Amino acid sequence: MQMIEVPNSLCSDRRGLARSVRDAQAGRVVHVRGVIEFTNVCHHNCLYCGMRVANKSLGRYTLDRERLTDLAAGARADGIRTIMIQGGDHLEYDVAELCRAVGDIRERFDQTVLLCLGDRPLRDYEELFAAGAAQAIVKFETSNRSLYRRLRPHSHLDERLKLVNDLWGLGYEVSSGFILGLPGATAEDAENDLKLVSELPLFAASVSPFIPNDQSPLAGATVPSLDSVLDCIAGLRIRNPWLRIPSVSALNLLASLEGREEPGQLLGLMAGANVLTINYTPPAQQKSYVIYTSRRSLIEVGYAKELVKLTGLETDCLPTL
Ligand code: 5AD
Repeated sequence: MQMIEVPNSLCSDRRGLARSVRDAQAGRVVHVRGVIEFTNVCHHNCLYCGMRVANKSLGRYTLDRERLTDLAAGARADGIRTIMIQGGDHLEYDVAELCRAVGDIRERFDQTVLLCLGDRPLRDYEELFAAGAAQAIVKFETSNRSLYRRLRPHSHLDERLKLVNDLWGLGYEVSSGFILGLPGATAEDAENDLKLVSELPLFAASVSPFIPNDQSPLAGATVPSLDSVLDCIAGLRIRNPWLRIPSVSALNLLASLEGREEPGQLLGLMAGANVLTINYTPPAQQKSYVIYTSRRSLIEVGYAKELVKLTGLETDCLPTL
């Protein structure tokens, strides 16, 4: 991956520089994707996540294949061209059923299918690729090995990085990313997170601010500042001109916590991001998908288009009737 050295004289407006790099290299387009969070069942016990298996107070749900394809049809009707199928690490969810859903969504609605399914056997990912999935997200969360082990006690960072490489080897366009401001992480860790992104064979990468989840052991921890997250997004863009970089919904939460007037996701786009995600999980289930908190800010397609208009960029949505 190409690295660009930034002259110190240009660092005073890092976000402005990141915007110009995006516009010139990635294009003046915001990629709008839809996500369906089809299950909040998870076998893992990550310390930062509310869906951890130890959270017995959380009502669990799983959507069946028909529901999944109906929701994808709704996203397609809104002009969405990429659909993300996301869930907890739920190994009992039959891979054959998932393959049928992927095939349907790909064939009937002509959508690019992006998987975010966590640690599944490579064989499953192979079958899903054959069924039509083209992209996958595997976040490494932190480049600090011992912190990773502490926060994700079931696994090692190297296994996660191997999955990133293996999926790339299968032909997937792979997305990864990290959480900024995890308790115990230092400024040096953040610098290493950025370096690690540039070393992996990635198509997209995200920076998510750490949001303490009130149903997790890290409930009392502190939140990073919105400015630190925006500067990190800008750094990611400057180092990786062609990368797809989401402006994540947690930025809106941070902006409102800090009493900022501008929507956080707009500021993310202004810092060089170029992806927005619309949530198509049914309202009854949205509240139970407590990755970072139940107070998530979820946006609709009309709002995403308005945000993009404010930046002067285009979206990749299809025109709707
Ligand atoms: N803060 C920020 N991001 C989180 N995630 C999970 N919990 C948190 C949290 N408390 C992110 C992780 C995970 C994704 C589904 O959600 O990056 O991969």
